[in-house]
Amino acid sequence: MLDVLGNLERTHTCGELRETHVGQQVVLMGWVAKKRDFGVLTFIDLRDREGVTQVVLSEEDKGEAHAKAKGLRGEFVIAVKGEVVEREGTHNAKLATGGIEVHASEILILNDAKVPPFQLEVAGSENLADESTRLKYRYLDLRRPQLQHNIRMRAKAVAAIREYFDKRDFIEIETPILLKSTPEGARDFIVPSRIHSGKFFALPQSPQILKQLTMISGFDKYYQIARCFRDEDLRADRQPEFTQLDMEMSFPNRETIYREIQGMFNHVLRLIGVELPAEWPRLTHAEAMRRYGSDKPDLRFEMELQDLSDNLRGTDFAPFAETLKSGGEIKCIVAKGKADYSRKQTDELQEYVKRYGAGALAWIKVGDETTSSLLKVLGEKKIAQLVSTSAAEAGDIVLIVAGRKSVVAAALGALRNEIARRENLIDRSKYACLIVTEFPMFEHDEESDTYVAAHHPFTSPMDEDLELFKTAVNDPSQHHLLGQVRAKAYDAVINGYECAGGSIRIHQKDIQALNFKALGLSSEMARERFGFFLDALEYGTPPHGGFAAGIERTCMILCGTENIRDVMAFPKTASAQDLMMDSPGDVDTSQLNELSIKIAN
Ligand code: AMO
Repeated sequence: MLDVLGNLERTHTCGELRETHVGQQVVLMGWVAKKRDFGVLTFIDLRDREGVTQVVLSEEDKGEAHAKAKGLRGEFVIAVKGEVVEREGTHNAKLATGGIEVHASEILILNDAKVPPFQLEVAGSENLADESTRLKYRYLDLRRPQLQHNIRMRAKAVAAIREYFDKRDFIEIETPILLKSTPEGARDFIVPSRIHSGKFFALPQSPQILKQLTMISGFDKYYQIARCFRDEDLRADRQPEFTQLDMEMSFPNRETIYREIQGMFNHVLRLIGVELPAEWPRLTHAEAMRRYGSDKPDLRFEMELQDLSDNLRGTDFAPFAETLKSGGEIKCIVAKGKADYSRKQTDELQEYVKRYGAGALAWIKVGDETTSSLLKVLGEKKIAQLVSTSAAEAGDIVLIVAGRKSVVAAALGALRNEIARRENLIDRSKYACLIVTEFPMFEHDEESDTYVAAHHPFTSPMDEDLELFKTAVNDPSQHHLLGQVRAKAYDAVINGYECAGGSIRIHQKDIQALNFKALGLSSEMARERFGFFLDALEYGTPPHGGFAAGIERTCMILCGTENIRDVMAFPKTASAQDLMMDSPGDVDTSQLNELSIKIAN
């Protein structure tokens, strides 16, 4: 039989009571986290979102309550009435409430609970139950103090972001979720219209076009905590549905936006007591790729890429000679003190770089007797030269990749992170931020030999590259020059995560039309998809720009987790499923009929 709550009200939370409360009569309510039964004495750890309080029931004092406590099990919901008593000689330093306990005079069982399908409290994250079980019962997993902390940290981060932009006269504007396609490089999630049979809405990949329209409307400074939807291949730091802080300003230059990026993140990271520099370091995209092989380098450790190409020009070793002849490069990183890597370890690293398209991984182990996988083909003298160029010292290993520039960057950039992870080279108390500037305007798709927008199609080329851009679009023989056009696009990177991205936009319709042309959209197609926007550009569009920050990525930094699901209340799996609701799921045929939709197979 369950008890009723009646008029009873709780007086304190389970994280609140201290020695100063000793002697008071209190009412606590919460979940049974643990029960220990010692016959005449029963101990209960009572948990709510604020903490845990030890409750004691003794047969001698309170027979009825004690008898009732016998029937309690983990996760039962109870109310406890009792007196706060100082713990005698058994202070629990691990608990904030560890100096006291509540001697219960009455217990109400407000609800019972089935035995949870997994243990909620375990020592160390490595002992957690399998993630898919925890996702199926997400509401239970969310009871864990770690997830409670993360979700509350997220709420604080969003509040801090609102506070930052409100103070600076940005206006929060909500934009629609049922939209027409907003290209951000992923596939759209689409929603069929019942009223307009055969027509579809698209969910926003971001509010990009709408926020630009608010600038044309004269709002001057806009922000929004915006839900975004992208049907793309998932990774550890991606979800199909996620949230952005989205902002836009009129009349900015790039520095104006950088100031807001820095100001906002600096304000948010103060939540965890971290003070980032007022002005963040900058790297151009080209320099980031050259030195780190990545447009989101983790600057908490060094291990920069070094170029060995000049040393190897003229070599007879065919793989290197061919790479250099075809415009590729040969680069390396130096792993300090790792000359003792075994054959098995270097083989593993070789398999690792192959995933990024590298053909092989060559190595030099530097020491009294330097050895190398290249010794036979290059000879001792050349090896010594490579060691000297790479500035490797005795005890270090030089890891070398040859290939196309993009492959070398991807392979060594990833290897740099992998070695740092394996060898614990990352100081977890450090927060390294930077702004990466001057992104390329286009990416070349080799398969289709077309150019796609590296950021999105509304991003402005750099003033210095405007003529190059025009020539490359207007002269078909110069189309390949598109690859060299730089954009006024930038990313904010913290600890190797792309936390935000943005750009100065195209505000002139001719340049926007030219950009659609560069992307292979005929003027009819551009009209059909973005006619409303091209029209809007003709009615006095101010120069404008902005950025969007991933709320989840930012919270991953705040919470020190590498799993995006740890900072979302109800995330999807890596295969874009909700295991709790079992979605996506089937819909009734009648619903499909109403929408005039037939499933093909
Ligand atoms: P972008 O596509 O770079 O820019 O996105 C901005 C930021 O959003 C986060 N993010 C994601 N987080 C979780 N899961 C995803 N699938 C995901 N995709 C992106 C990242 C990223 O830096 N409209 C532009 C912004 C602008 O130009 O103002 C845009 O959306 O942290």
